[in-house]
Amino acid sequence: MSKTYNIAVVGATGAVGETMLSILAERAFPVGDVYAVASSRSIGKRVAFGNRYLVVEDLADFDFSKADIGLFSAGASVSKEYAPKAADSGCIVVDNTSQFRYDDEIPLVVPEVNPEAIALYRKHGIIANPNCSTIQMVVALKPIYDAVGIERINVCTYQAVSGTGKEAMEELIKQTAQLLNGKPIEVTVYPKQIAFNALPQIDVFLDNGYTKEEMKMVWETRKILQDDAIQVNPTAVRIPVFYGHSEAIHIETKEKITSSQAHTLLGKAPGITVVDTREAGGFPTAVTESAGNDAVFVGRIREDISHLRGLDLWVVADNVRKGAALNSIQIAEILAKNHI
Ligand code: A2P
Repeated sequence: MSKTYNIAVVGATGAVGETMLSILAERAFPVGDVYAVASSRSIGKRVAFGNRYLVVEDLADFDFSKADIGLFSAGASVSKEYAPKAADSGCIVVDNTSQFRYDDEIPLVVPEVNPEAIALYRKHGIIANPNCSTIQMVVALKPIYDAVGIERINVCTYQAVSGTGKEAMEELIKQTAQLLNGKPIEVTVYPKQIAFNALPQIDVFLDNGYTKEEMKMVWETRKILQDDAIQVNPTAVRIPVFYGHSEAIHIETKEKITSSQAHTLLGKAPGITVVDTREAGGFPTAVTESAGNDAVFVGRIREDISHLRGLDLWVVADNVRKGAALNSIQIAEILAKNHI
């Protein structure tokens, strides 16, 4: 019989955790036992795994020595406390929070971009999964980076509320219903009304005037590409979409690349689907292409009329799948195939 791996999903009742379970069930991952783990609030709840249900276990009492791989998505403070404990018990952690991403000794991995970095997991038994906005951007840019080099990235994001979690999705539903019924709205998760609005703040403000979400894109892009010289200038915006982040990306390359060369290159790249016909609707969107799908979709590929080596792209991906759950499971698949 071929080898199987026991998997613990930590944060199994959350938006990302539920998707991890459904992707694990639908892919050919060699799963043995699967454990659904969350807080004591969820003890006894059931979550779907393929055509059966798993009873949720309390993280505080969970014995990680039963699991080969732990997929963590329950927030940075939970990972801070429990990921090292799990790793000490022999459970390799793929962590979807920001807790370990900027630690030089912990690999930060996007399988289409730097799968070789996974091998560095041995030092701490932890692999970090990047932020959703970074993942789709580096998947789309890697083929261009390898072909002609990239000096600078200007990016504006249009991010879905599922990236914040289930409470945020409920807030968008509730505010939308309240407004359509002429009632006053309640604002609890976001700093201002999210329904029918666009909020240029994701995560907290830092001293340089950027938000932490924006600086994550700077720090993570440099770490994943192993390029401290690459300049990244992001503006991250939350919009009232449930699933799928969109990004308008403007790059300055080291050597000139034409839009048709970029189109051909991206069309052959792993994990990318190009949708770019330069006619009405000939571009990908969060809702119509990305939501529920695995690929990073690229469209609106054009040469920047304001810069000799400038190229513009529109990139969308399902933030809960490729931006989180799927990327973690792809890492787990490489771990299982090549490392454990
Ligand atoms: P729970 O449902 O028991 O609170 P989301 O990002 O969609 O809000 O989901 C967050 C996930 O992280 C949920 O599964 C949640 O479990 C889990 N979680 C949050 N805090 C803890 C904690 N202290 N211990 C274990 N799991 C936690």
